[in-house]
Amino acid sequence: MNRLVRLKLRSAEYRYDIRINDERLLHSLMIELASLRYSNLFIVTNTVVWKLYGPRITASFKKAGIAYHVVLLPDGEAYKNLKTVQKIYDALLPYHVDRRSILIGIDGGVVGYMTGFDASTYMRGIRYIQVLTTLLVQIDAAIGGKTGVDYALVKNIVGTFYQPLIVYSNIHFLETLSHRIYRAGIAEVIKYGIIQEKSLFSHVQKHRAGILAQTPQTMPKIVYGSSRIKTEFVEKDEKETSGIRMLLNFGHTFGHTIERSTQYRTLHGEAVGIGMIIAARISCVLDLYKKDVPQKIEQVIRDRALPVSVNNLDIQHLSKSINYDKKGKAGKIALILLKDIRMPVVYKMDKKMFKKILMEVKI
Ligand SMILES: NC(=O)c1ccc[n+]([C@@H]2O[C@H](COP(=O)([O-])OP(=O)(O)OC[C@H]3O[C@@H](n4cnc5c(N)ncnc54)[C@H](O)[C@@H]3O)[C@@H](O)[C@H]2O)c1
Repeated sequence: MNRLVRLKLRSAEYRYDIRINDERLLHSLMIELASLRYSNLFIVTNTVVWKLYGPRITASFKKAGIAYHVVLLPDGEAYKNLKTVQKIYDALLPYHVDRRSILIGIDGGVVGYMTGFDASTYMRGIRYIQVLTTLLVQIDAAIGGKTGVDYALVKNIVGTFYQPLIVYSNIHFLETLSHRIYRAGIAEVIKYGIIQEKSLFSHVQKHRAGILAQTPQTMPKIVYGSSRIKTEFVEKDEKETSGIRMLLNFGHTFGHTIERSTQYRTLHGEAVGIGMIIAARISCVLDLYKKDVPQKIEQVIRDRALPVSVNNLDIQHLSKSINYDKKGKAGKIALILLKDIRMPVVYKMDKKMFKKILMEVKI
């Protein structure tokens, strides 16, 4: 099965395709490369993915008669920084890369963000292709052209908007994900269900056991449905200026802070899951609604074997570090809260009020 999600952006004469397929691993990529003109090709990946997929990637390129260089990066969020970005620049330099060169990121969100960042800055912009290998990146991180790195312990604070030429999501890559990393991706699917899409939410509920067991048959709907929703938001608000795309950050402001305060031992998706519960509780304290929504959200997250709290989370630290979040403007913090399920809102409050509310919310 091959599915195509097409992203059309109004601001630029730009359009790219997200191809979701379950055929041979790099088949579509090889066909695409055969039709493109380029001077140099660079595969950017990390040691874990290369160990798992290097032989198959090498064999596909060899069979297609396509020459390439490999830039191998260390694994993990701890390396999503300017030093690693420089490592990619250093790998490009000896090959006299020009604007006809292409970077191909084959990996999850960490390498994907850095490949995009390097592509957007090297020679003021060269083309890049994303081949996505984690659930989180297939349903979220790679759609919409965000790139970047962490800096001074602040997540994704340095970055650009730069759209890839093409994005491939092959669900076969998901079969080798550890249960923990896979489930962290499911948290973002739950987020789409909460802020937007009923049928996706029902799918996650109905196929709970299959999804938890990483059954391949349950995945195309998850990847396709989520990609479609993310695409709709990005098309309406490419650079997060109107507030529409900001709604996708539901759970993220707290999530980023939890990631930081646990020195990234909590995975992004896990932290977003907990962040959604906190945001729902704040919505209740503010009387945005009086229903049992926080408990419902907590139950759905718990049922997917995801954490619902962090040990010893320091509220003072939470409120202090949240000030550094790039979503805070002019002393106000913009939080994504809920009026109800599928009714997210941008809610602005000053830091004093925010601190007070945090004290009232049970975290
Ligand atoms: N705003 C956005 O668009 C957005 C949204 C979500 C996440 N992100 C960013 O994405 C990053 C998280 O992405 P991620 O969860 O993909 O993390 P990741 O890239 O670190 O991948 C998680 C782990 O899975 C391994 N891995 C990758 N593919 C594999 C495969 N097929 N089989 C086995 N192991 C595999 C990686 O080596 C790594 O150890 C974060 O840096 C986050 O900031 C951005």
